[in-house]
Amino acid sequence: MKSIVTGGAGFIGSHLVDRLVDAGDEVLAIDDLSSGKEANLSSAARLEQADICDERIGQVVSTFSPDRVFHAAAQISVSLSAREPATDAKTNILGTLNVLDAIRSVSGETAKFIFVSTGGAMYGEPETLPAPESLPATPGSPYGASKHSIEVYLPVYKRLFGMRHSTLRLANVFGPRQDPHGEAGVVAIFTRAMLADRPVTIFGDGEDERDYVYVGDVVEALTLAAESEGEGPFNVGTGIGTNVNDLFGVLAELSGYNQPAAYGPPRAGDIGKISLDSSLIHREWGWKPQTKLVDGLAATVSWFREQAE
Ligand SMILES: NC(=O)c1ccc[n+]([C@@H]2O[C@H](COP(=O)([O-])OP(=O)(O)OC[C@H]3O[C@@H](n4cnc5c(N)ncnc54)[C@H](O)[C@@H]3O)[C@@H](O)[C@H]2O)c1
Repeated sequence: MKSIVTGGAGFIGSHLVDRLVDAGDEVLAIDDLSSGKEANLSSAARLEQADICDERIGQVVSTFSPDRVFHAAAQISVSLSAREPATDAKTNILGTLNVLDAIRSVSGETAKFIFVSTGGAMYGEPETLPAPESLPATPGSPYGASKHSIEVYLPVYKRLFGMRHSTLRLANVFGPRQDPHGEAGVVAIFTRAMLADRPVTIFGDGEDERDYVYVGDVVEALTLAAESEGEGPFNVGTGIGTNVNDLFGVLAELSGYNQPAAYGPPRAGDIGKISLDSSLIHREWGWKPQTKLVDGLAATVSWFREQAE
């Protein structure tokens, strides 16, 4: 199989590239390296350093002629999206449409498009937890809105151009290579600070809950999406909400950190509690998370410890 992974030098994208390379795929990563790193990328994959908004993406995609395109490149900062909605939309809407148009211009049967969407920023503050996909999309940020708008475009591209696609709405993904600036950056931020014995600040009272899913499990869901029928959107999470105080406690124990947490004012726009009901993807594709939170956190702390040495 020939696979393109946009954002392939980033956190989730690079783990996906590793999995595809192991499975024998020929892989092209398209990444502008704005937050991704070449060092993340398997030496068996090719890198095209390009912005997804660039008009040469059409040429890159048609020359490679992929069987599937995993779209993980994105502006991922919720807070930046709130400050600069148009900057977010330029990458997450116009850049994504540029990739979709590149795919549909490839002759023959169109490649399958696997869209990496968000579950954490899609449902606002739902009354039902864990949140199923049947809840209305009520994004609380321009980032969530831009991801949702692509979900609205995809069925249109199917009707107009026969575009095959699946959408995965990821919970808060964590693991090795994580960048501290993303949606679930808290694991990376806490771990780095704890290993350096620096103070750790929790914003608010630490009772906010997130659904932390390990990157290896997310990669499994993405590869299933490439091989399966069904467009989704599918939630990809554990269904378990973990609050920041508990996360702090587990990470402190794993990293041997003895300082108490410092508490700061809550950040505007942060949601209270979110967890995702992933029974749909379990029913349809047999996916469920395999990695316990503590095991995934232990692997993450080990990786950050190695990097710090
Ligand atoms: N990490 C999470 O918890 C989480 C949760 C839900 C959804 N997602 C989605 O998963 C995807 C991957 O996120 P991640 O956490 O691995 O973040 P990441 O920043 O590590 O990965 C994004 C990659 O895209 C690249 N990129 C950014 N803008 C680009 C552009 N204009 N052109 C080309 N490349 C560009 C970056 O250099 C980076 O390598 C994103 O679409 C994100 O919205 C992540």
